[in-house]
Amino acid sequence: MAEERTRVGIIGAGPAGLLLSHLLHRAGVESVVLEARTRDHVEHRQRAGVVEHGVARILRAAGAGARMDRAGAVHHGIELRFDGRSHRVDFAGLCGRDVVLYAQTEIVKDLIAHRLADGGDVRFAAAATAIEGIEGERPRIRYGTAAGEQVLACDFVVACDGFHGIGRPSIPAERVRHFEKSYPFGWLGILADVPPSATELIYARHERGFALHSQRGPRVSRLYLQVGNDDHVGNWPDDRIWAELAARFALRDGGWELATGPITDKAVTPMRSFVCEPMRHGRLLLAGDAAHIVPPTGAKGLNLAMHDAALLAEALASWHATGDHTLVDGYSDTALRRVWRAEHFSSWMTGLLHRDPNGSAFDRRVQSAHLEFIASSRSASAQLAENYTGLPYV
Ligand code: FAD
Ligand code: PHB
Repeated sequence: MAEERTRVGIIGAGPAGLLLSHLLHRAGVESVVLEARTRDHVEHRQRAGVVEHGVARILRAAGAGARMDRAGAVHHGIELRFDGRSHRVDFAGLCGRDVVLYAQTEIVKDLIAHRLADGGDVRFAAAATAIEGIEGERPRIRYGTAAGEQVLACDFVVACDGFHGIGRPSIPAERVRHFEKSYPFGWLGILADVPPSATELIYARHERGFALHSQRGPRVSRLYLQVGNDDHVGNWPDDRIWAELAARFALRDGGWELATGPITDKAVTPMRSFVCEPMRHGRLLLAGDAAHIVPPTGAKGLNLAMHDAALLAEALASWHATGDHTLVDGYSDTALRRVWRAEHFSSWMTGLLHRDPNGSAFDRRVQSAHLEFIASSRSASAQLAENYTGLPYV
């Protein structure tokens, strides 16, 4: 079997793997991206929608932000709804930053287009099956294609292969520590052909459970409902979804109506917090969901993945240019500082807004008091705004 060689072998063409490959190319470092699924599949998988201030800057600086700036929408705040009333968190006034609403599907499309236009090597329908030799200097990825098994030899392997990939389990169990928290609920997410009913995102906490109103451009709404852990889309006919959303977003004095339309996509996502430490073993590095998961309430999953990629690109480019390993050696510690900040924020937002099926009436009153405090205290609101738009950690 012929063995191919590249500098950096990247597993996974999600946001982390694609941005890493793009940034490495701009720094003159060759890479190959192996992706198990087809291009069509990765370009249409519905996921996140909020791009932090700093991540938008990374995309612009990398020459990959033009379509985001044309088609995305800058959001200067979010709305919190609780106990039938509404409170706006004004990002611009509280912390001077904002976020861009631009779907993960579009970021993935943009990065694939850039990679291919630059002559990049992104191989779809190429599933990595084993990572070997990570404790030596010449790790190898075995992967399967329609043509049979292939081998890619590299200087470094970066696993950007998501939570269920093969990267993390390739590290010997005694070399890593896992931190995990599960939640007794999940999110039912829908996409609907109906103009958004609000200009900004609405995060609603209701006795019946959490709901989120987001958007995908001027004609498409993206909405989420808290559902049970073992719930599935079969339990949720369209009428039931719209009725439940309307109930959870309702304001005490009326005056707001949720527009409805044909639902084009429906899926249930489980909620989990997870961190793998360290994010590296030998010549294998982990980035994005392969190393950490957050519940989507704080909109951090995509942003963490992009930050990891930017850090790693700088570290690997420095190693490539000078042979100096300092930044590669520091990658895990540097990335984990931001990861743990996001882990705290995401689990905090989740607790603030969801109905805990095991919680008591006392817990719900405390939750209301907490939301009341955010609505009445500038410093409490500012903490939310700073975290949501993205703290400027290196
Ligand atoms: P991924 O986007 O998961 O990419 C990993 C890639 O690796 C995939 O393309 C996969 O096919 C590929 N791969 C896996 N195994 C192999 C292999 N063996 N060989 C080759 N390729 C492989 N975040 C939010 O902020 N808001 C949301 O609403 C939201 N919704 C989500 C819904 C779902 C169902 C999921 C799974 C995640 C969601 N997230 C959300 C999180 C966010 O989308 C992720 O944090 C983000 O996709 C992470 O990017 P990534 O590049 O690390 O991983
Ligand atoms: C989305 O638009 O998909 C979205 C927005 C905010 C979140 C999670 C998901 O917190």
